Amino acid sequence: MAKKNTKTILAIETSCDETAAAVLEYTPGSKWPQITTRSSVINSQVKLHSKMGGVVPEAAARAHVKNIRPVVESALKASGYKLKAIDYIAVTQGPGLIPSLIVGVEFAKALGLAAQKPLIPVNHMLGHLYSPFSRVKDKGSRIKDLFPMIALIVSGGHTILALMKSHKQYKVLGQTVDDAAGEAFDKVAKLLGLPYPGGPEISRLAAKGNPRAIKFPRPMLNAKNYDFSFSGLKTAVLYFVKDKGLGIRSIGLKADICASFQAAAVDVLVQKTLRAAREFKAKSISISGGVSANQTLRAAMQAACTEQHLEFFVPPAGLHTDNAEMIGIAAAFKLHQGFRPVPGADLKADSNLAL
Ligand code: KG4
Ligand code: ZN
Repeated sequence: MAKKNTKTILAIETSCDETAAAVLEYTPGSKWPQITTRSSVINSQVKLHSKMGGVVPEAAARAHVKNIRPVVESALKASGYKLKAIDYIAVTQGPGLIPSLIVGVEFAKALGLAAQKPLIPVNHMLGHLYSPFSRVKDKGSRIKDLFPMIALIVSGGHTILALMKSHKQYKVLGQTVDDAAGEAFDKVAKLLGLPYPGGPEISRLAAKGNPRAIKFPRPMLNAKNYDFSFSGLKTAVLYFVKDKGLGIRSIGLKADICASFQAAAVDVLVQKTLRAAREFKAKSISISGGVSANQTLRAAMQAACTEQHLEFFVPPAGLHTDNAEMIGIAAAFKLHQGFRPVPGADLKADSNLAL
């Protein structure tokens, strides 16, 4: 049974190709926000877009329009709360594909207007940033070991390295100057003839290959900043594949390419994150976003953290790739930090919203 001062949040996410809704409870009063997830529903459009080899924005928006109401209804039903018992509606404002974002934002505004619920606009990247906190409770001893934290967000659209001094104080240290990490996985998969999304396919094949078979470059590994670049790595794979003759048939060679590409990407991500942790005397490291589902990245980051005596945080299953639970978590943190929910009439989707 929820406490008297508990607030309920209905969270909605439609920034790319997942229509998602979740219901969470947030109880103020302690230093660390007390958050309980009551339900989380994700309707993935992967089947629709894999036929086209990538996300088609207009098709994604049309699918969101079709799915959003049933997804929100399922999340409410599974949570045990009726709409009238919801206090706030949280919605992803950006960044993302504008046709997709508009569906979620306008749906949230209409629902908020009809049911008289104020809105909490959420930056999608903030959702990823806070997703590793989903299982951190204030009774555990781990909270004092959290900050300063170096947070690596690796998704299909972004690669961001951030310094968190506390849960409300964060600063972006570096970003990708070209392709995002997930985008590189997707593009390399495409040129190897693997289906979309490429990340899971590459990691599946990589498990059968030799990560030292091909020496791919580690772009910007030694650059004296915290930016990343993945387009050169992708091009190196492209030249290698062209050299061997397009349409490589040997599964063994494909597996070696996947394993060697993955090793190069993971190497850069881990080494730059560790360098930031040393410079800012971090107590912990977190990774989030779709690419944080990658077992090789997680294992390498975990090993580096163990060696350096750093705590390591990674979201639980279901919170790596896009979902609405993380949007609800970020909304709860915003409430905890004093944000006042707004009447939604003026809210606008923003495809370039910065963290
Ligand atoms: O966070 P996310 O769901 O969407 C964005 O906000 O962009 O991330 C999707 C990305 C895709 O590029 C996908 O290929 C990648 O995450 N991804 C992976 C894995 N699972 C998903 N990349 C590497 N290894 C994986 N296991
Ligand atoms: Zn995302």
